[in-house]
Amino acid sequence: MTELKLNIVIRTANPKDVNEIQILNSKLFESDSRFDQTFQMDWPMSKEGKKYFIKRITKDNGLAILAVDENSGKVAGYLIGAACNAQSHRKKMIVANLENMFVKEEFRSRGIGTKLYNEFLKWSQEKNANRIKVEASAKNDLAIKFYRRQGFEDYDLVLEKEI
Ligand SMILES: CC(C)(COP(=O)(O)OP(=O)(O)OC[C@H]1O[C@@H](n2cnc3c(N)ncnc32)[C@H](O)[C@@H]1OP(=O)(O)O)[C@@H](O)C(=O)NCCC(=O)NCCS
Repeated sequence: MTELKLNIVIRTANPKDVNEIQILNSKLFESDSRFDQTFQMDWPMSKEGKKYFIKRITKDNGLAILAVDENSGKVAGYLIGAACNAQSHRKKMIVANLENMFVKEEFRSRGIGTKLYNEFLKWSQEKNANRIKVEASAKNDLAIKFYRRQGFEDYDLVLEKEI
């Protein structure tokens, strides 16, 4: 089957997009729950989840962007980020955090994730961030491959144990 031509545009989300973002984040939870069974699956659609996304959409230190296919009008994916001061034990600097991103399965491997990441990088530079960071489940090999391809290097290793 031939793939339909896409015309992907990255745009800033507005408060009207919050439900769409919550649905995409639910899909991310479904995907990530393969690697992490501690996820509260109803969090994305909860009051608390909605509050978090609204904050990222509306506050100056937050980024919420959507990838939209102009040909079909469909939303293909999203990215959420935030810029913060580094923890107090580190040198004074701003760290921009890529908090979560998701591209719908039918749109993957066509450069949309890279487009979203490039927009995040541009925004981070505009926010005078000195570093960018992202966390991923240690078992999420494909996402880690994607981030390494964007130039991220291993930094912290978080170890947990069920007791
Ligand atoms: C990671 C993700 C956002 C990349 O989006 P994308 O639009 O496919 O990205 P690009 O087309 O720019 O890059 C594709 C590369 O991403 C990597 N990739 C990561 N996860 C992948 C997945 N589940 N399926 C396919 N490719 C994936 C591959 O290395 C791929 O390279 P390839 O096409 O040569 O195989 C997307 O795959 C996704 O939403 N995955 C599930 C959710 C997730 O893991 N999110 C990140 C954790 S917060």
